[in-house]
Amino acid sequence: MKKRILFLMPFVLLSVNRSLAQKLTIPIETAHNAVVLQVTAKNDLVQAYFGERLNTPDEYSQIKEVRTSDYTGLYQSAYTPSGSRNLLEPAISIQHADGNQSLDLRYVSHKVDKLSEDVTLTSVVLKDLVYKVVVTLYYKAYIKDDVVEQWSVIRHQEKGEITLQKFASANLNLSSKAYWLRQYHGDWAKEMRPEETQLTHGIKTLDSKLGTRANLFMPSMFMVSLNKPATEDEGKVMMAALEWSGNFRTDLELDPDDNLRVISGINNYASAYKLKPNVDFTTPAFVYTFSSKGKGVASRNLHNWARNYKLMNGKGDRLTLLNNWESTYFDFNEQKLFGLLKDTKALGVDLFLLDDGWFANKFPRNDDHAGLGDWEENRKKLPNGIASVAREADKEGVKFGIWIEPEMVNPKSALYSKHPDWVIKQPKRDEYYFRNQLVLDLTNPTVQDFVFKVVDSLFIKDPKLAYIKWDCNAVIYNAYSVHLKIQQSQLYVDYVRGLYTVLQRIRKKYPDVPMMLCSGGGGRVDYGALQYFTEFWPSDNTDPLERIYIQWEYSYFYPAITSSTHVTDWGKQSLKYRVDVAMMGKLGFDIVIAKLSPQDLQFAKDAVVNYNSVKSIIWHGDQYRLSDPQTDPVACVMYVDTIKASAVVFDYLVSNRYDAAPRSRMLLKGLDPAKKYTIREINVYPGKTGRFNGESIYSGDFLMKVGIDPEIDPSRSSVVLKIDETK
Ligand code: DGJ
Repeated sequence: MKKRILFLMPFVLLSVNRSLAQKLTIPIETAHNAVVLQVTAKNDLVQAYFGERLNTPDEYSQIKEVRTSDYTGLYQSAYTPSGSRNLLEPAISIQHADGNQSLDLRYVSHKVDKLSEDVTLTSVVLKDLVYKVVVTLYYKAYIKDDVVEQWSVIRHQEKGEITLQKFASANLNLSSKAYWLRQYHGDWAKEMRPEETQLTHGIKTLDSKLGTRANLFMPSMFMVSLNKPATEDEGKVMMAALEWSGNFRTDLELDPDDNLRVISGINNYASAYKLKPNVDFTTPAFVYTFSSKGKGVASRNLHNWARNYKLMNGKGDRLTLLNNWESTYFDFNEQKLFGLLKDTKALGVDLFLLDDGWFANKFPRNDDHAGLGDWEENRKKLPNGIASVAREADKEGVKFGIWIEPEMVNPKSALYSKHPDWVIKQPKRDEYYFRNQLVLDLTNPTVQDFVFKVVDSLFIKDPKLAYIKWDCNAVIYNAYSVHLKIQQSQLYVDYVRGLYTVLQRIRKKYPDVPMMLCSGGGGRVDYGALQYFTEFWPSDNTDPLERIYIQWEYSYFYPAITSSTHVTDWGKQSLKYRVDVAMMGKLGFDIVIAKLSPQDLQFAKDAVVNYNSVKSIIWHGDQYRLSDPQTDPVACVMYVDTIKASAVVFDYLVSNRYDAAPRSRMLLKGLDPAKKYTIREINVYPGKTGRFNGESIYSGDFLMKVGIDPEIDPSRSSVVLKIDETK
C-alpha cells in the first residue's frame, strides 16, 4: 500500500531546494564506525563519509561536500544510476519497458527502524525523475559487532517488463591517500592465496562467472586498507564479502578525485534480468566491517557477527568425526563400515561420516564417472541399506552422517536418462564435463523438489541422521535451462535462488542437523550459504603446512567454528603436527585408524580428549593472530574465551631453513592484564615431556608485555599451550 502512495506522490516533493533548507544527513552508526549519507541540493543521495564515528552525532551534518572535479554530481553517489549524468561505473543499469536506458535516482524519503537494542535498519527510498522506478537502499547496522549489511530492492510500475542490466547490492565510497587491496585467488587444492597491491586509477574487478562452485578461482571476500597495508593490530581496514553463492562482481574504482568507489553485487555477466511491474527484485546483502585498529579487530567483528546473527547454529556445538573418504575412497562394504564405526568409537570422536560411493545400482558409483543422481543405496556395498549402518552406529554409541551431492548428475546415471531436460547443458552443443558431471537445473521447481527429496528420503531411511556433507563439484558450462525458455539470462541468478529455496525447505523441516558446505574442496563459501550450513570445507588440500596458510586467510572472514579441519595422510609431517593444525577449527579425522602405530593411536585419542577440553574456546572465543606464516618462520594463533579465563595457543614451525625457529618470546594477546594464569602444554606425544607444566604463575600483563617462548625447534615443530586463570 505504502509503495503505491509513493508513486502517486507529486514530483514537487522530490525537488525541494535543499540549499535553502538544512542539509539532510543520515548517519548509520555502529559502536565505533559510521557510514554517513547526505542529500544534496539536487536531491542526489551521496555517501559523504565512511570511517570512525564522531563523538557528537550532530557534527555529521557539518560534513561538507568534498571539493571535486566532479562533472556529474554522482562521483560520491550512494547508488550510482547509469544512462543520465553518470560517467563512472554504475551500481544500477536498466532498460525501461520502452527501450530507454536512462536512470536518474533522487532521494524521496528515509526511515530508521530499531530492530533490537543492537540492530538498526535504515532504508532510503530513491526514485527516478521520469520513469516509475523506485530503488530502496537498506543498511542494516549491527552496533556491537561494527558490521553493516547493505542491499537494495528494485521495483517499478512501468507498462511492461523492465530489464535489469546491472543491480549491485552496495556502492560505497572510501576516502584516503592510498588504498591497498588484499584479494584471494586459487584453484582446487590452492584455495585462498592472498595478493596485496596498491590500487591505481581505473577499475579493479574481482569476480566469478563459474555459476555453482563460484569461488574456485576467487572468493568474494576481500579487504581494503587505507593509506598503507593494515597489520594485525594497526591501520584502517575494511573487510567485506557478498552473501551470495553464485556469480559475484566487485568493482573497485579509483575515481578522478582519488576516492575509491566499491560497487559489489551479483555478477551481471550474461544475467540481464526481466522484472515485471510491482515485483521486488531484492539483491543479496554485501557485508562489511571497518576497523581503525588493524585486521585482528576487523576479523573478530565478522566472527562475532557471524556467530550472533548469520551462521546456522553459530552459538551451538559441533560434532567431531571420522570420515572415510581418503581411507576407502569408493571401495567399501557394510563390513568395512562396521569396522570404521568401531574405529570412530575407539578414537573418541562423535560421529562417523560416510562419504561418496554409497549409492546407485544401474550405474554403480564405484568411481566418479557414474551414478551421481541415483540416490538409492548400492545393493552390493550396502545390501541392508544405510538404515543398517545407522543401527550399527547406534549400537556402537556413535552418531552417523552421510555425504550427498544433490545438485549434480553424471551422464551415466538413471536420473540423466530419465530427465535430460533437468540438466543444464546446451541442446545443440557437445556436452562438456567438470569431474565427469553436469549441474541440475535448480531454476526448475520440479528439480528443486527432487533435490529436497534427496535429503528428505535420507531422514526416512535414518530418522536419527546426525550430519550431512553437501558437496558440489562441478561448475556450470554451457549455461542453458530448458525450464527458462526464452529467459536464459536469468539462469545464473535463478539457480542460486532455487538453491536457497531448497535449503530453506530443508531448514524448515530439519532445523538442527549440522550440514557441511563442501565444494570439491573450498569452491563455495559465503554468508549467503552459511545461513543454512554449520560449517564449510576449506580445501581438499589437507597437507598441514598448506592448511596453516589456507586456514589463516579464511580466518579473517569466517570464525574457526565454521572451518572443517581434518587430519589426513596429506603431507610429510608427524601425526602430532597434523592433529595440532586440525585442532584450529572443527576437528575431524580421515585416516586409517587401524594402521596407526600404538603410540600414534594413543596420541590421537588423547588429542580428542584435549580437543574436547578446548573446543569451546576455539569455537566461541576470540581469535588473535600472533605470528604470521607469510612473513615469519612460525605461525602462531591464539583463541581466548569471552571471559578471558582460558586460552589456547597454537604454534607451528613453517620453515625448513637451518636454525629457522626463532628463540624469541611470543607476546600473547587478549588476556586480562590483572588476571593470573598458568600455562600447560597439551598434545604432548607419548614418551615426550612438555616444556610447560602449569607450575609457574604469570599475570596477563606479563604474558602480553614480556611474553613466553614456546620453545619451537625442529624437534618441537608444533606446540599447543593451554592457558588457564588461576585464583
Ligand atoms: C570432493 C570433496 O572435497 C571430498 O572431500 C570428497 O567428499 C569427494 N568430493 C567425494 O567425491
